[in-house]
Amino acid sequence: MSLPRPIVFGNWKMHGLRRDALALAGSLAERYVRPSGSLGIFPPFTVLAEVARRVAGTRMIVGGQDCHDRPEGPFTGCVSAPMLADAGARAVILGHSERRHGLGERDEWICRKVQAAWGSGLLVVLCIGETEAEWLAGRRFEVLDRQLAGSLPEEVPAGRLVIAYEPVWAIGTGRTPTLEDIRDTHAWLRQRLRARRPAVGDLPLLYGGSVKPENAGDIMAQPDVDGVLVGGASLDPEQFWRIYLAGGGS
Ligand code: PGA
Repeated sequence: MSLPRPIVFGNWKMHGLRRDALALAGSLAERYVRPSGSLGIFPPFTVLAEVARRVAGTRMIVGGQDCHDRPEGPFTGCVSAPMLADAGARAVILGHSERRHGLGERDEWICRKVQAAWGSGLLVVLCIGETEAEWLAGRRFEVLDRQLAGSLPEEVPAGRLVIAYEPVWAIGTGRTPTLEDIRDTHAWLRQRLRARRPAVGDLPLLYGGSVKPENAGDIMAQPDVDGVLVGGASLDPEQFWRIYLAGGGS
């Protein structure tokens, strides 16, 4: 999938009853005509199909927030990659810290989910990031290296992967790393991917964690930051659109 910059993705998390979700999606669809960049929204499963229908005909990407690694079976409460695709999703977020840390998901399982998502033709937004304790202990790169090695399959198909660096301590807290830190981390990630996965070393890298209209422009101006993954501010169409504009989108 070709993803013109800026790439601005909104993770709605567990927010959005049908009426609000459709209003939010509709409001974005009205603005997103003849777009220069890539806008994506990741609503809850319950509204995904309706939201996908609401924005059909625009280039907006609609995705799920997780999927199981098996196509079907006795897995109560889970949703598979073919189900997401069937509902109109073109992408899926995997390895989000709220699942890694909140629900105990491990790299090996995330790796199998990534493979399953690709099997259904989905774009994967793979999230990685260190906790505050790891950050303070100066272990950021070691953690990112481990997560990359553990959750990325050996063969990465072209155009099917975006990596989002989301420091756990910046998610929903209003705190962000300094611009210099974001630049360093993304430069490190780029160099690491080029060395280890030369075929896809230039894949899009997003920053996520307390992105707002006020800081989005500076963050997306950093080298090797191709866009942002937005949580809270993606629930307000005005704010989300301002973030997209701040990254140079139109
Ligand atoms: P936030 O969440 O923008 O609310 O910090 C980001 C995310 O979890 O992807």
